[in-house]
Amino acid sequence: MSKKLQDWKRDKAAGRKRALVTAYDYPFAHFAARAGLDGILVGDSLGMVVAGEADTLGVSLEQVCYHTRMAARGAGSCLLIADLPFGSYEGSPGQAWSSAAALLRAGTDMVKLEGGREMAETVAFLAQRGVAVCGHIGLTPQRVRQWGGFRRQGTDAEGAQHLREDAAALAAAGARLLVIEAVPAELGAEITRNLAIPTIGIGAGPDTDAQVLVLHDVLGLAPGGSPTFAHQYLGGAGLVESALTRYAEEVRSGRFPPRQER
Ligand code: KIV
Ligand code: NA
Repeated sequence: MSKKLQDWKRDKAAGRKRALVTAYDYPFAHFAARAGLDGILVGDSLGMVVAGEADTLGVSLEQVCYHTRMAARGAGSCLLIADLPFGSYEGSPGQAWSSAAALLRAGTDMVKLEGGREMAETVAFLAQRGVAVCGHIGLTPQRVRQWGGFRRQGTDAEGAQHLREDAAALAAAGARLLVIEAVPAELGAEITRNLAIPTIGIGAGPDTDAQVLVLHDVLGLAPGGSPTFAHQYLGGAGLVESALTRYAEEVRSGRFPPRQER
């Protein structure tokens, strides 16, 4: 686990995989750090898995700052990445700069923004002024209303070529990491191989330099269900429901709280 991006680059060269997860508050950032995760993403997926919305577009900069402050208190030496939410960076490099500054003040190490070559100027603007930027290409959830839904990307030759060029443009602009979401495994592998910066895949096959998953998908705590590329490592919903059922049952039956002498 290291906050130093040079270490991430060294691990890419050595073929050492890194694992990241999203977290949106103090306890789960703490557990992720204790589990030895390499990085924590305060993703705008919080709009879906925490706030229960249908997509990420309702998430505000203020909300991501709030969750970043909570996660930062638990993240320890995990690299902390915070999402620039929809509408907080696309307008101009200057707008992106003030939003990124707010996230850095809230405690993040790095900001992530969605988009390809059209964001290269903004990435360069931030990078040249001392902000570490993570790109995000492929299925970029802030664009789902334009697309009419969550769609895998890079599935035809033209789309794949577009993503290759987007990846190269972001790296050339100074992005330090790149998330690649929901693309064919061969494309995830090829972009990873051809890029000097580490890639973080989600639904992009096994050959990206790192993997990231949404916490509530990992723990089985997403009431709305999870994407097919996610993997559930805990039956969280069942555990939480049975604990709460037991608690309510013990209160109603008079077993909790216990009667004490003093
Ligand atoms: O918001 C998020 O959780 C993300 C990951 C899925 C990469 O952007
Ligand atoms: Na996101």
